[in-house]
Amino acid sequence: MSLSLSSIKRIAVLKGGPSSEREVSLRTGAAVAVALRSLGYEVEEVDVTGREVNLPAGIDFVFLALHGTFGEDGTVQAILEARGVPYTGCGIAASRLAFDKEASKDLFRAAGIPTPSGFVVSRGGEFRDVLAMAMPVVVKPSRQGSTVGMSFVFSTEEIEPALKKAWEFDSHVLVEQFVKGREFTVGILGNQALPPVEIVPKHGFYDYDNKYTAGATDYYCPARIDDETTRRIQKAAFLAHRVLCCQVYSRVDVMLDQEGRPFVLEVNTIPGMTATSLLPKAAAAAGIDFPGLCRRILELSAEAFAQAQENIAVKKEGGG
Ligand SMILES: Nc1ncnc2c1ncn2[C@@H]1O[C@H](COP(=O)(O)OP(=O)(O)O)[C@@H](O)[C@H]1O
Ligand SMILES: [Mg+2]
Repeated sequence: MSLSLSSIKRIAVLKGGPSSEREVSLRTGAAVAVALRSLGYEVEEVDVTGREVNLPAGIDFVFLALHGTFGEDGTVQAILEARGVPYTGCGIAASRLAFDKEASKDLFRAAGIPTPSGFVVSRGGEFRDVLAMAMPVVVKPSRQGSTVGMSFVFSTEEIEPALKKAWEFDSHVLVEQFVKGREFTVGILGNQALPPVEIVPKHGFYDYDNKYTAGATDYYCPARIDDETTRRIQKAAFLAHRVLCCQVYSRVDVMLDQEGRPFVLEVNTIPGMTATSLLPKAAAAAGIDFPGLCRRILELSAEAFAQAQENIAVKKEGGG
């Protein structure tokens, strides 16, 4: 089956999902559905409430608007892959890697991509190494999003409670050196790194409330940095995307330290897509409006699907 953008008529937008990011996902799904309808597609919004996916009949494509566990970690991608249903964004393995901060960090290190140093501590395990780290540190569950279960730790006494909190969300917890500096996020679309967005919370850190409360954080795009710094951040972000075998699109979180060195925190394979989310802001700065961004994601995903089908066909012809 070949697939091109023009053959897609009916799209299921999968939203909600069982993760702690369900509410954000519902918003992403609603915004994407509006955009796809404005482009003339027939859209079915599917609220995923558990770990099962019931697709309406006659769907040509699935647009994934799920964030977090199940939707962003390769699980839903595996379900759709097995059914032969094309879907947007990264494949199974890339989704799983990017969702796992521990595995991502190993590959960033191997590829020479700067990332904050740190340790992984298993649930209930020994954490003597962590106590020797210079404060502050950031304690986060390896597989979670939206800063859920995460703590900023300023003294060694706070480490154990922070680990216990993070262990509630994952058996593997990352304790990372805190990077003092400025925060950016870089959208990747196809082979292009979009203009970085600078993130400046008005108070405290970029935690759940500062992420999702209107007006709590200032965003600058284009960011207030020179061309050389822009390129350095984009280069690190694009390499992080590639090293995790990501395709189509993603959004890479990067800290810039006081010496102007970028440190990659993580790659988000299904970033927020409400009209005010960060990836759409970056796309807008590159001249791509919200519906245009949705269309481009569909187009790149259809190309990736067609390419994968071709590879399977070649293998079959080759026998063996
Ligand atoms: N090592 C770090 N140094 C400084 N700030 C950090 C560090 N790690 C995380 N943060 C802050 O916490 C936020 C969330 O961390 P991140 O690793 O992106 O996980 P997630 O977004 O999946 O919760 C970041 O956007 C950043 O503001
Ligand atoms: Mg993040």
